[in-house]
Amino acid sequence: MQLVYDSLTGNVRRFAEDLARQLGGPPALAMREAQHLPGDYLLLTYTFGTGGVPASTQAFLQQHAARLRGVVSSGSFHWGQNFARAADVIAGQYGVPVVAKINKAGSAANRVQVLEWIGERRA
Ligand SMILES: Cc1cc2nc3c(=O)[nH]c(=O)nc-3n(C[C@H](O)[C@H](O)[C@H](O)COP(=O)(O)O)c2cc1C
Repeated sequence: MQLVYDSLTGNVRRFAEDLARQLGGPPALAMREAQHLPGDYLLLTYTFGTGGVPASTQAFLQQHAARLRGVVSSGSFHWGQNFARAADVIAGQYGVPVVAKINKAGSAANRVQVLEWIGERRA
């Protein structure tokens, strides 16, 4: 499963790169480098505005919705009800599962959660 990420200040990038290393496959792709996706992908993004999806992620999804298989979003706990809400918005819009919601750059437990989801899809 290709990992494609959007990241403004580096939290999502770090999470995606750590995952890619643990998977031992291809590197995680920054969204701007992911114009020609050969197959299915897991999207990792962040939450912006007030519980919103970044405009860059929205624009990407308009072009690449067909191969989207799941979404992870980052946020910050202090946003309360809007914590990492971008994942809920995308899941609702595109009919894919929320694989994880992570605080900032996520934890080891978050990585396990995502790795297990990827593993289940392979099985
Ligand atoms: C202007 C602004 C608005 C934000 N809004 C939210 C929000 O509504 N909910 C949330 O959980 N996090 C919110 N965040 C926090 C970011 O989603 C969080 O820091 C995330 O880890 C950033 O990912 P990045 O470092 O990959 O860009 C906001 C951050 C900024 C700067």
